[in-house]
Amino acid sequence: MYIELVECTDLEFSGRRFLLETDSDLHSIIASSAENVLVNPTKSRVDCGIADSRQPEEHVEKSLRDSEKRVRIQHALSQATVSLRDGFDDFKAGRFDIARLAPAARSITNSILLSPHVLVEMTRLKTKDEGTYIHSLAVSGLMTGLGHLSNLGEETTRDLTIAGLLHDIGKVLIPNAILNKGGQLTDAERRIMHSHPERGYQLLKQHPGVPDLVLEICRFHHEALDGSGYPLGLRAAQLTLPIRICTICDVFDALTSVRPYKRAWTTTEALKWMFDRGHLFDRRLVLRLGSLLS
Ligand SMILES: [Fe+2]
Repeated sequence: MYIELVECTDLEFSGRRFLLETDSDLHSIIASSAENVLVNPTKSRVDCGIADSRQPEEHVEKSLRDSEKRVRIQHALSQATVSLRDGFDDFKAGRFDIARLAPAARSITNSILLSPHVLVEMTRLKTKDEGTYIHSLAVSGLMTGLGHLSNLGEETTRDLTIAGLLHDIGKVLIPNAILNKGGQLTDAERRIMHSHPERGYQLLKQHPGVPDLVLEICRFHHEALDGSGYPLGLRAAQLTLPIRICTICDVFDALTSVRPYKRAWTTTEALKWMFDRGHLFDRRLVLRLGSLLS
């Protein structure tokens, strides 16, 4: 059978697609940290059991529809990753053009409309190299979904999609040794890491055509309602709905992702953790995110 993806906490199969041919290959997957395996029946040489006649017909159809959705979303996300990586490279080279993010934004919008839930599952597969890109795509997708649900209008929702893609762009200026450090950051390293929103804002500001909302979200996405966030320690009254949306989507994606020091939390665990911290996060939006993903 053809394996499209393997969801595993230790990332040993991350990003790999392959034809599974022998029993010993199968046992290697079973012995790994794999939690879910996506089989593509159309590329498999054997009946994968997805169309098992003992299953109710409706269930079979749903499984196939979900598999197709996953494959389409994975394809859309890999295309969006490429165009986002190009955009970041352009940015580093000083020739950033926001219009070049349009294909990535379109892929994100289409994916989130196809299935927000599957999109979140796919983003758990991020690898170290693509971490920042896939995180940006995931946040962008969730922000697009929340923008729709919050009736913010087409233009603002489009800006939210772009803001999600660019909110962490300041990280291109943070040394990899700090960005990818497995253990705890020192105080000095944390200060450098915490400079990414302001650095991103200062850089984006130099480029024409970047909407004010995108600049604002880039600068303030790590602020918290009680004033304990950074860089400015703003409080609830100064934090607009679009900024709050970004903060929640950003934290949600971080919690539901695998990190060197933790497993991926479930959607329910992440939502509950944020809901229990109403002093930091807007509870209405946490609930709205839950309804987007249910
Ligand atoms: Fe950030």
